Amino acid sequence: MWGGRFAEGPSSVMREINASIPFDKRMWRQDIAGSKAHVAMLGKQGIVDAADAATISAGLDAVAADYERDGVPEDLALEDIHMLTEARLAEKIGPVAGRLHTARSRNDQVATDFRLWVRDATDQVLAALAALQDALLARADEHAGSVMPGFTHLQSAQPVTLGHHLMAYFEMIARDVSRFADARARGNRCPLGSAALAGTGFPLDREATAAALGFDGPTRNSLDAVSDRDFALDYLMAAAQCALHLSRLAEEFVIWASQPFGFVKLSDQWSTGSSIMPQKRNPDAAELVRGHSGRIVGCLTSLMITMKGLPLAYSKDMQDDKPPVFEAHDLLALSIAAMTGMVESAQFRTDRMRGLAESGFATATDLADWLVREGGIPFREAHHITGRAVAAAEAKNVRLDQLELADLQAIDQRIDERVFGVLTVDASVASRISFGGTAPVRVREAIAAARAARGV
Ligand code: ARG
Repeated sequence: MWGGRFAEGPSSVMREINASIPFDKRMWRQDIAGSKAHVAMLGKQGIVDAADAATISAGLDAVAADYERDGVPEDLALEDIHMLTEARLAEKIGPVAGRLHTARSRNDQVATDFRLWVRDATDQVLAALAALQDALLARADEHAGSVMPGFTHLQSAQPVTLGHHLMAYFEMIARDVSRFADARARGNRCPLGSAALAGTGFPLDREATAAALGFDGPTRNSLDAVSDRDFALDYLMAAAQCALHLSRLAEEFVIWASQPFGFVKLSDQWSTGSSIMPQKRNPDAAELVRGHSGRIVGCLTSLMITMKGLPLAYSKDMQDDKPPVFEAHDLLALSIAAMTGMVESAQFRTDRMRGLAESGFATATDLADWLVREGGIPFREAHHITGRAVAAAEAKNVRLDQLELADLQAIDQRIDERVFGVLTVDASVASRISFGGTAPVRVREAIAAARAARGV
């Protein structure tokens, strides 16, 4: 009744919705590598004549050289990178190309390609995170003794050192490194040979293809192998958590670079100007790292929702697995590089940090602790006495260590002149010697331990 006018429409839309070549062409290197490993094994096993296998392998090299030189053509009619490469191969070597797909399905092929791609991406991220860790360690070392206000609720809490603060981010990144390494190890199994879903009757050597592609071994269940995208989700989960850490560090830079704080001057390379306000130095890169983290979390959500509820084994929904992983990877790689650059080049204004640490009564806890230690006063009472000392300093508009002994003794007789030994910010940070504490001596130990653990 109405089909006539849509006769061409649905088929072109079908072609468009079905095609993954616009994005999966990004896996062409992995696709060629997988095919070469497969055909070498077919030749060795006598499943394909050895001469034909050699012809196919050389043909794949020639197709790869074309892609390298001219890029991968987006031919929607050929659907995906697997069909495109096979078609190109046939153009080069003729009908013998048809032997490549023996004992293989696009289902185990794409699962293999994608695992290889995610593994390469993971290695790139691990290298980038190592550079960020180096930058954090170097700046922490430089500022192991630089005093800054430590915050809770973004209110001045107790003095800490900038080195300690930067090392907190080192710890987060170290956990990210371990998550990515873990994901890599778990995902390093080869699906090739699982075929469409049930395995194959051909006498394959799955150990050989797995080894040739650098996998730790073949996957153990063919149904699971073609339907599993945990390796991609593991990557995205690690990426999402890493992005959260980068976003928090980026937020610190946004706050620190603001005029009221003035803790950091971003280098020209990492600032942007305003087209209307000439005085502006905007921390756009930090803001974009903060923004990108939301998109990366979105990529994780996207793939989780794609996979949820799919029955075994392969369903075409799974073709949508790649765009979120590619997008997350590009955003994460940029974010890590941007934060590394900002950490490396930031000019920390330690004078401002110290000034603010001294002005916020940040050593109040030190006074209370002193009353407990030297006066034997219960902490709750010491807390109350200290509160009155803070009020007195506030009324006189001076720091705690600038109060007269008489002012303090008017509050509590048990205070003597030794108290001035604990009221400066330097004394305060130096006293925090518990393991993991902010004392410069502990921070330097933490840096040395981190370097030793990483072998740098
Ligand atoms: N382009 C497809 C994908 O990315 C390849 C697998 C196609 N398999 C199939 N049975 N249609 O998922």
